[in-house]
Amino acid sequence: SRPHILVTGGAGYIGSHAVLALLDAGYPVIVLDNLITGFDWAVDPRATLIVGDIADSGMVAEVLHAHDIQAIMHFAGSILVAESVADPLKYYRNNTAASASLVETALKAGIRHLLFSSTAATYGQPPVSPIPETAPTVPINPYGRSKLMTEQMLADAARAHPLNHCALRYFNVAGADPHGRSGQSSAVATHLIKIAAEAAIGLRDQIAVFGSDYPTADGTCVRDYIHVSDLASAHLHALERLMAVPDENLVLNCGYGRGFSVLEVLDAVDRVTGRAIPRVMADRRPGDPPELVADNRAILSTLPWRPAHDDLEAIIADAIAWETRLAARRAGRAAA
Ligand code: UFG
Repeated sequence: SRPHILVTGGAGYIGSHAVLALLDAGYPVIVLDNLITGFDWAVDPRATLIVGDIADSGMVAEVLHAHDIQAIMHFAGSILVAESVADPLKYYRNNTAASASLVETALKAGIRHLLFSSTAATYGQPPVSPIPETAPTVPINPYGRSKLMTEQMLADAARAHPLNHCALRYFNVAGADPHGRSGQSSAVATHLIKIAAEAAIGLRDQIAVFGSDYPTADGTCVRDYIHVSDLASAHLHALERLMAVPDENLVLNCGYGRGFSVLEVLDAVDRVTGRAIPRVMADRRPGDPPELVADNRAILSTLPWRPAHDDLEAIIADAIAWETRLAARRAGRAAA
Protein backbone atom coordinates (compact mmCIF):
# COMPACT_ATOMS: atom_id res chain seq x y z
CA SER A 1 0.00 0.00 0.00
CA ARG A 2 1.05 3.60 -0.50
CA PRO A 3 2.91 5.49 2.26
CA HIS A 4 0.77 7.51 4.66
CA ILE A 5 1.37 11.26 4.45
CA LEU A 6 0.80 13.78 7.24
CA VAL A 7 -0.30 17.21 6.02
CA THR A 8 -0.03 19.95 8.65
CA GLY A 9 -2.26 22.91 7.88
CA GLY A 10 -4.26 20.69 5.53
CA ALA A 11 -7.48 22.58 6.34
CA GLY A 12 -6.03 25.81 4.93
CA TYR A 13 -6.03 27.19 1.41
CA ILE A 14 -2.89 25.63 -0.09
CA GLY A 15 -2.83 22.64 2.27
CA SER A 16 -6.37 21.57 1.33
CA HIS A 17 -5.40 21.56 -2.36
CA ALA A 18 -2.28 19.49 -1.62
CA VAL A 19 -4.54 17.04 0.24
CA LEU A 20 -6.69 16.73 -2.91
CA ALA A 21 -3.60 16.11 -5.08
CA LEU A 22 -2.33 13.41 -2.68
CA LEU A 23 -5.73 11.69 -2.42
CA ASP A 24 -6.28 11.85 -6.18
CA ALA A 25 -2.86 10.15 -6.58
CA GLY A 26 -3.89 7.38 -4.17
CA TYR A 27 -1.98 8.35 -1.01
CA PRO A 28 -3.69 7.92 2.37
CA VAL A 29 -3.69 11.36 4.04
CA ILE A 30 -3.80 12.43 7.68
CA VAL A 31 -4.43 16.15 8.20
CA LEU A 32 -3.26 17.89 11.36
CA ASP A 33 -4.73 21.38 11.74
CA ASN A 34 -5.65 23.51 14.75
CA LEU A 35 -8.50 25.11 12.71
CA ILE A 36 -7.52 28.62 13.84
CA THR A 37 -7.42 29.81 10.23
CA GLY A 38 -8.42 26.56 8.49
CA PHE A 39 -11.87 25.01 8.07
CA ASP A 40 -12.84 21.41 8.86
CA TRP A 41 -15.17 21.37 5.83
CA ALA A 42 -12.22 22.24 3.56
CA VAL A 43 -10.68 18.83 4.29
CA ASP A 44 -11.75 16.21 1.76
CA PRO A 45 -13.71 13.44 3.55
CA ARG A 46 -11.31 10.81 2.17
CA ALA A 47 -8.63 12.23 4.52
CA THR A 48 -8.50 11.79 8.31
CA LEU A 49 -8.65 15.14 10.13
CA ILE A 50 -6.98 15.48 13.51
CA VAL A 51 -7.60 18.80 15.26
CA GLY A 52 -4.51 19.84 17.14
CA ASP A 53 -1.39 21.94 17.20
CA ILE A 54 1.93 20.99 15.57
CA ALA A 55 3.76 22.29 18.66
CA ASP A 56 2.03 19.67 20.85
CA SER A 57 4.88 17.17 20.57
CA GLY A 58 3.22 14.42 22.63
CA MET A 59 0.15 14.43 20.42
CA VAL A 60 2.22 14.70 17.20
CA ALA A 61 4.39 11.72 18.26
CA GLU A 62 1.23 9.69 18.85
CA VAL A 63 -0.25 10.64 15.46
CA LEU A 64 2.99 9.78 13.60
CA HIS A 65 3.08 6.38 15.29
CA ALA A 66 -0.63 5.54 15.17
CA HIS A 67 -0.93 6.31 11.45
CA ASP A 68 2.46 4.92 10.39
CA ILE A 69 3.39 8.25 8.76
CA GLN A 70 6.22 8.08 6.21
CA ALA A 71 6.47 11.73 5.14
CA ILE A 72 5.22 15.16 6.16
CA MET A 73 3.99 18.08 4.10
CA HIS A 74 4.23 21.05 6.44
CA PHE A 75 1.87 23.96 5.63
CA ALA A 76 0.72 25.00 9.11
CA GLY A 77 1.69 28.58 9.96
CA SER A 78 0.78 32.24 9.92
CA ILE A 79 0.97 34.09 6.61
CA LEU A 80 0.02 37.76 6.88
CA VAL A 81 2.92 40.14 6.25
CA ALA A 82 1.31 43.18 7.93
CA GLU A 83 0.35 41.15 10.99
CA SER A 84 3.93 39.87 11.23
CA VAL A 85 5.18 43.45 11.48
CA ALA A 86 2.68 44.27 14.24
CA ASP A 87 3.07 40.97 16.15
CA PRO A 88 6.46 39.49 15.19
CA LEU A 89 6.69 37.05 18.08
CA LYS A 90 3.50 35.33 16.92
CA TYR A 91 5.35 34.59 13.65
CA TYR A 92 8.51 33.30 15.34
CA ARG A 93 6.29 31.16 17.60
CA ASN A 94 3.81 29.82 14.99
CA ASN A 95 6.26 29.49 12.12
CA THR A 96 9.79 29.06 13.44
CA ALA A 97 9.43 27.60 16.95
CA ALA A 98 6.45 25.37 16.10
CA SER A 99 8.34 24.04 13.06
CA ALA A 100 11.38 23.27 15.24
CA SER A 101 9.15 21.25 17.53
CA LEU A 102 7.54 19.42 14.61
CA VAL A 103 10.91 18.55 13.03
CA GLU A 104 12.31 17.31 16.34
CA THR A 105 9.29 15.10 16.93
CA ALA A 106 9.42 13.86 13.35
CA LEU A 107 13.12 12.94 13.65
CA LYS A 108 12.47 11.02 16.89
CA ALA A 109 9.69 9.13 15.11
CA GLY A 110 12.06 8.20 12.27
CA ILE A 111 10.41 10.36 9.60
CA ARG A 112 12.77 10.70 6.64
CA HIS A 113 11.03 13.17 4.32
CA LEU A 114 9.67 16.65 4.94
CA LEU A 115 8.27 19.18 2.50
CA PHE A 116 8.11 22.77 3.67
CA SER A 117 5.80 25.56 2.59
CA SER A 118 8.11 28.53 2.04
CA THR A 119 7.71 31.82 0.24
CA ALA A 120 9.22 34.30 -2.18
CA ALA A 121 9.13 36.66 0.82
CA THR A 122 12.44 34.99 1.79
CA TYR A 123 14.09 37.06 -1.00
CA GLY A 124 12.94 40.46 0.25
CA GLN A 125 13.53 43.14 -2.42
CA PRO A 126 15.03 40.95 -5.15
CA PRO A 127 18.00 42.44 -7.01
CA VAL A 128 17.16 40.63 -10.27
CA SER A 129 14.08 39.44 -12.10
CA PRO A 130 13.25 36.66 -12.70
CA ILE A 131 14.71 35.56 -9.40
CA PRO A 132 16.70 32.29 -9.10
CA GLU A 133 16.95 30.25 -5.88
CA THR A 134 20.60 31.32 -5.60
CA ALA A 135 19.64 35.00 -5.18
CA PRO A 136 20.46 36.46 -1.76
CA THR A 137 17.76 35.87 0.85
CA VAL A 138 17.26 39.13 2.69
CA PRO A 139 13.65 39.18 3.88
CA ILE A 140 12.21 42.58 4.71
CA ASN A 141 9.58 41.52 7.25
CA PRO A 142 9.21 39.09 10.20
CA TYR A 143 7.01 36.77 8.11
CA GLY A 144 9.79 36.26 5.56
CA ARG A 145 12.41 35.92 8.30
CA SER A 146 10.34 33.36 10.23
CA LYS A 147 10.07 31.24 7.05
CA LEU A 148 13.74 31.64 6.09
CA MET A 149 14.83 30.59 9.58
CA THR A 150 12.75 27.45 9.20
CA GLU A 151 14.37 26.71 5.85
CA GLN A 152 17.83 27.06 7.42
CA MET A 153 16.84 24.91 10.38
CA LEU A 154 15.62 22.18 8.02
CA ALA A 155 18.81 22.29 5.97
CA ASP A 156 20.89 21.92 9.17
CA ALA A 157 18.69 19.08 10.44
CA ALA A 158 18.96 17.31 7.08
CA ARG A 159 22.78 17.55 7.27
CA ALA A 160 22.88 16.08 10.77
CA HIS A 161 20.15 13.44 10.57
CA PRO A 162 18.74 10.88 8.13
CA LEU A 163 16.19 13.35 6.82
CA ASN A 164 15.74 14.92 3.41
CA HIS A 165 13.63 17.95 2.74
CA CYS A 166 12.31 20.30 0.10
CA ALA A 167 11.45 23.96 0.69
CA LEU A 168 9.06 25.25 -1.94
CA ARG A 169 9.17 29.03 -2.31
CA TYR A 170 5.75 30.12 -3.49
CA PHE A 171 5.17 33.18 -5.60
CA ASN A 172 1.59 34.55 -5.79
CA VAL A 173 -0.79 31.67 -5.27
CA ALA A 174 -4.31 32.18 -6.61
CA GLY A 175 -7.34 30.41 -8.04
CA ALA A 176 -9.18 27.38 -6.74
CA ASP A 177 -9.66 23.69 -7.43
CA PRO A 178 -11.16 23.56 -10.97
CA HIS A 179 -13.64 20.92 -9.71
CA GLY A 180 -14.90 23.30 -7.00
CA ARG A 181 -13.76 21.14 -4.07
CA SER A 182 -11.72 23.86 -2.31
CA GLY A 183 -10.55 27.44 -2.66
CA GLN A 184 -9.38 30.50 -0.77
CA SER A 185 -11.93 30.70 2.06
CA SER A 186 -10.41 33.12 4.57
CA ALA A 187 -12.78 35.77 5.85
CA VAL A 188 -10.22 38.57 5.54
CA ALA A 189 -9.08 39.00 1.95
CA THR A 190 -5.75 40.70 1.28
CA HIS A 191 -4.67 39.02 -1.98
CA LEU A 192 -5.42 40.80 -5.24
CA ILE A 193 -7.20 37.97 -7.06
CA LYS A 194 -9.28 37.06 -3.97
CA ILE A 195 -10.32 40.71 -3.67
CA ALA A 196 -11.15 40.83 -7.37
CA ALA A 197 -13.25 37.65 -7.03
CA GLU A 198 -15.18 39.25 -4.16
CA ALA A 199 -15.79 42.32 -6.32
CA ALA A 200 -16.84 40.11 -9.25
CA ILE A 201 -19.68 38.58 -7.21
CA GLY A 202 -20.78 41.94 -5.78
CA LEU A 203 -19.19 41.82 -2.31
CA ARG A 204 -17.13 44.93 -3.13
CA ASP A 205 -17.94 47.99 -5.23
CA GLN A 206 -14.39 48.77 -6.31
CA ILE A 207 -10.78 47.64 -6.21
CA ALA A 208 -7.93 49.78 -4.90
CA VAL A 209 -4.70 49.78 -6.89
CA PHE A 210 -1.86 50.12 -4.39
CA GLY A 211 0.63 52.37 -6.17
CA SER A 212 0.88 53.38 -9.83
CA ASP A 213 4.31 55.02 -9.76
CA TYR A 214 6.48 51.89 -9.58
CA PRO A 215 9.37 51.46 -12.03
CA THR A 216 7.38 48.96 -14.14
CA ALA A 217 5.84 49.23 -17.63
CA ASP A 218 2.46 50.58 -16.42
CA GLY A 219 3.58 51.78 -12.98
CA THR A 220 1.84 49.01 -11.00
CA CYS A 221 3.47 46.01 -9.29
CA VAL A 222 4.23 42.87 -11.27
CA ARG A 223 3.68 39.40 -9.78
CA ASP A 224 3.98 35.78 -10.88
CA TYR A 225 0.50 34.34 -10.24
CA ILE A 226 0.45 30.55 -9.95
CA HIS A 227 -2.71 28.42 -9.90
CA VAL A 228 -3.10 26.66 -6.53
CA SER A 229 -3.70 23.29 -8.23
CA ASP A 230 -0.38 23.56 -10.09
CA LEU A 231 1.27 24.39 -6.77
CA ALA A 232 -0.40 21.32 -5.23
CA SER A 233 0.91 19.09 -8.03
CA ALA A 234 4.41 20.55 -7.51
CA HIS A 235 4.17 19.28 -3.91
CA LEU A 236 3.20 15.82 -5.07
CA HIS A 237 6.17 15.62 -7.46
CA ALA A 238 8.57 17.00 -4.85
CA LEU A 239 7.36 14.43 -2.31
CA GLU A 240 7.88 11.58 -4.77
CA ARG A 241 11.36 12.89 -5.52
CA LEU A 242 12.25 13.00 -1.79
CA MET A 243 10.99 9.44 -1.30
CA ALA A 244 12.96 8.21 -4.34
CA VAL A 245 16.27 10.03 -3.73
CA PRO A 246 17.23 9.86 -0.02
CA ASP A 247 20.14 12.31 -0.20
CA GLU A 248 18.27 14.96 -2.13
CA ASN A 249 17.61 18.26 -0.39
CA LEU A 250 15.87 20.90 -2.47
CA VAL A 251 14.92 24.56 -2.47
CA LEU A 252 12.64 25.31 -5.42
CA ASN A 253 10.79 28.37 -6.63
CA CYS A 254 7.15 27.72 -7.51
CA GLY A 255 6.00 30.09 -10.20
CA TYR A 256 5.42 30.22 -13.93
CA GLY A 257 8.31 32.55 -14.70
CA ARG A 258 6.17 35.36 -16.11
CA GLY A 259 4.58 38.37 -14.49
CA PHE A 260 1.39 40.41 -14.72
CA SER A 261 0.90 43.93 -13.41
CA VAL A 262 -1.98 44.82 -11.11
CA LEU A 263 -3.68 46.60 -14.04
CA GLU A 264 -3.19 43.57 -16.31
CA VAL A 265 -4.83 41.39 -13.64
CA LEU A 266 -7.77 43.80 -13.34
CA ASP A 267 -8.14 43.92 -17.15
CA ALA A 268 -8.29 40.11 -17.15
CA VAL A 269 -10.93 40.20 -14.38
CA ASP A 270 -13.02 42.57 -16.52
CA ARG A 271 -12.71 40.23 -19.50
CA VAL A 272 -13.80 37.23 -17.39
CA THR A 273 -16.79 39.02 -15.84
CA GLY A 274 -17.73 40.97 -18.97
CA ARG A 275 -17.98 44.24 -17.08
CA ALA A 276 -15.66 46.95 -15.79
CA ILE A 277 -15.16 46.81 -12.02
CA PRO A 278 -14.30 50.35 -10.84
CA ARG A 279 -10.66 50.89 -9.83
CA VAL A 280 -9.37 53.56 -7.51
CA MET A 281 -5.74 54.57 -7.55
CA ALA A 282 -4.38 54.45 -4.02
CA ASP A 283 -1.05 54.91 -2.23
CA ARG A 284 1.63 52.26 -2.30
CA ARG A 285 1.23 49.50 0.30
CA PRO A 286 4.31 49.41 2.55
CA GLY A 287 6.76 46.61 1.78
CA ASP A 288 5.61 45.77 -1.77
CA PRO A 289 8.56 45.13 -4.12
CA PRO A 290 7.92 46.42 -7.69
CA GLU A 291 8.40 43.04 -9.32
CA LEU A 292 8.46 39.41 -8.12
CA VAL A 293 8.81 36.82 -10.86
CA ALA A 294 10.18 33.30 -10.39
CA ASP A 295 13.06 31.88 -12.31
CA ASN A 296 11.50 28.40 -12.46
CA ARG A 297 14.22 26.55 -14.37
CA ALA A 298 15.26 24.58 -11.25
CA ILE A 299 11.84 23.04 -10.60
CA LEU A 300 11.36 22.31 -14.32
CA SER A 301 14.70 20.51 -14.54
CA THR A 302 14.47 18.68 -11.17
CA LEU A 303 10.87 17.47 -11.16
CA PRO A 304 8.58 16.09 -13.89
CA TRP A 305 6.17 18.90 -12.86
CA ARG A 306 4.61 20.82 -15.74
CA PRO A 307 2.06 23.60 -15.22
CA ALA A 308 -1.46 22.68 -16.34
CA HIS A 309 -3.25 25.95 -15.45
CA ASP A 310 -0.87 28.69 -16.63
CA ASP A 311 -3.67 30.96 -17.84
CA LEU A 312 -4.49 34.15 -15.94
CA GLU A 313 -8.15 34.22 -17.02
CA ALA A 314 -8.64 30.57 -15.99
CA ILE A 315 -7.05 31.32 -12.59
CA ILE A 316 -9.43 34.25 -12.14
CA ALA A 317 -12.46 32.26 -13.36
CA ASP A 318 -11.69 29.47 -10.86
CA ALA A 319 -11.31 32.05 -8.05
CA ILE A 320 -14.69 33.59 -8.94
CA ALA A 321 -16.39 30.18 -9.17
CA TRP A 322 -15.13 29.36 -5.67
CA GLU A 323 -16.22 32.77 -4.33
CA THR A 324 -19.73 32.02 -5.66
CA ARG A 325 -19.76 28.67 -3.84
CA LEU A 326 -18.53 30.33 -0.63
CA ALA A 327 -21.31 32.92 -0.82
CA ALA A 328 -23.89 30.14 -1.26
CA ARG A 329 -22.41 28.32 1.74
CA ARG A 330 -22.62 31.49 3.87
CA ALA A 331 -26.23 32.07 2.78
CA GLY A 332 -27.07 28.45 3.61
CA ARG A 333 -25.54 28.74 7.07
CA ALA A 334 -27.32 32.03 7.72
CA ALA A 335 -30.64 30.43 6.76
CA ALA A 336 -30.02 27.32 8.89
N1 UFG B 1 -2.87 44.87 -4.57
C1 UFG B 1 -3.65 45.94 -4.95
N2 UFG B 1 -4.90 46.04 -4.40
C2 UFG B 1 -5.39 45.15 -3.49
C3 UFG B 1 -4.58 44.04 -3.14
C4 UFG B 1 -3.32 43.93 -3.69
O1 UFG B 1 -3.25 46.78 -5.73
O2 UFG B 1 -6.52 45.31 -3.04
C5 UFG B 1 -1.54 44.73 -5.19
C6 UFG B 1 -0.42 44.69 -4.17
O3 UFG B 1 -0.02 45.98 -3.80
C7 UFG B 1 0.65 43.92 -4.94
C8 UFG B 1 -0.16 42.95 -5.82
O4 UFG B 1 -1.47 43.51 -5.87
O5 UFG B 1 1.34 44.78 -5.76
C9 UFG B 1 -0.24 41.56 -5.25
O6 UFG B 1 -0.60 41.66 -3.88
P1 UFG B 1 -1.06 40.41 -3.02
O7 UFG B 1 -1.47 40.91 -1.67
O8 UFG B 1 -2.06 39.61 -3.81
O9 UFG B 1 0.25 39.50 -2.93
P2 UFG B 1 1.73 39.90 -2.45
O10 UFG B 1 2.55 39.98 -3.68
O11 UFG B 1 1.76 41.05 -1.54
O12 UFG B 1 2.07 38.66 -1.51
C10 UFG B 1 2.62 37.47 -1.93
C11 UFG B 1 2.25 36.38 -0.94
C12 UFG B 1 2.88 36.63 0.40
C13 UFG B 1 4.36 36.82 0.22
C14 UFG B 1 4.65 37.88 -0.80
C15 UFG B 1 6.12 37.96 -1.09
O13 UFG B 1 0.85 36.32 -0.79
O14 UFG B 1 2.64 35.56 1.27
O15 UFG B 1 4.00 37.59 -2.03
O16 UFG B 1 6.51 39.30 -1.15
F1 UFG B 1 4.92 37.20 1.39
